[in-house]
Amino acid sequence: MREKIKIEFKNTGFWYGSKQILFGVNLKIYPKKITALIGPSGCGKSTLIRCVNRMNDLIPIAKIDGRIIYNNEDIYGKNADIIELRKKIGMVFQKPNPFPMSIFDNVAYGLRIQNMKDKNIIKQIVRSSLEKADLWTEVKDCLNCSAFGLSGGQQQRLCIARALANDPDVILMDEPCSSLDPIATAKIEVLLKKIKREKTIIIVTHNMQQAKRISDYSCYLLNGKIIEYSKTEKMFINPRNKLTKDYLDGMFG
Ligand SMILES: Nc1ncnc2c1ncn2[C@@H]1O[C@H](COP(=O)(O)OP(=O)(O)OP(=O)(O)O)[C@@H](O)[C@H]1O
Ligand SMILES: [Mg+2]
Repeated sequence: MREKIKIEFKNTGFWYGSKQILFGVNLKIYPKKITALIGPSGCGKSTLIRCVNRMNDLIPIAKIDGRIIYNNEDIYGKNADIIELRKKIGMVFQKPNPFPMSIFDNVAYGLRIQNMKDKNIIKQIVRSSLEKADLWTEVKDCLNCSAFGLSGGQQQRLCIARALANDPDVILMDEPCSSLDPIATAKIEVLLKKIKREKTIIIVTHNMQQAKRISDYSCYLLNGKIIEYSKTEKMFINPRNKLTKDYLDGMFG
């Protein structure tokens, strides 16, 4: 049987101007799993995930080669539809970034951009997205309140709800818990395990315990190269590469 793969990097290289950041990245991301990207600051983790939804296109000096295949199509192919791609591949950032509008409007934003007019359907999707993000009970009596009135952890769950409202297939997360306290972090972790029943998640994290707790696969990146990629339990118990072992040992002291 052919192995199921959601996203595949094939010999992907990446440059900012003349500075090469990613080198010959080959990586298979499996569906309905959480894949953690770990590695020291500046090794190219954010760059790598930003290639997947073509966020790096916004940087004029960015250049990519090789291929990234999503659902059998080259993300950078001639016929690629970036709007469709960003609908299917949602993103959550390090710092919660709700829009300056109400809780309801934040979640409805993507639907309205897609020109959805039916108010009842919008209401239903807003509710179900907030429920999926485990935020509904906390905000249901104040949907018209400003999103800025929420706590950091609530704002991050709102951003997850906003991403879920577009019914993405893949969610990219760049250190989504780094500005949160342990309780808010734990809530997000529970949430991610629930979301992965339906969606594929790639998460960048500096928190090795978090990678160990929530991910199915881990990828260790160093200086833009993949040093090791394997099932998380394997990597954390018995890393193949000495460089991985050194990094994990350093992290755990
Ligand atoms: N817009 C940009 N223009 C030029 N160089 C950039 C740009 N963004 C990132 N870089 C450089 O690319 C390299 C990789 O950065 P990247 O943000 O992908 O690392 P990272 O692994 O996510 O680091 P961190 O853990 O600190 O977030 C770094 O050397 C960084 O300085
Ligand atoms: Mg980063």
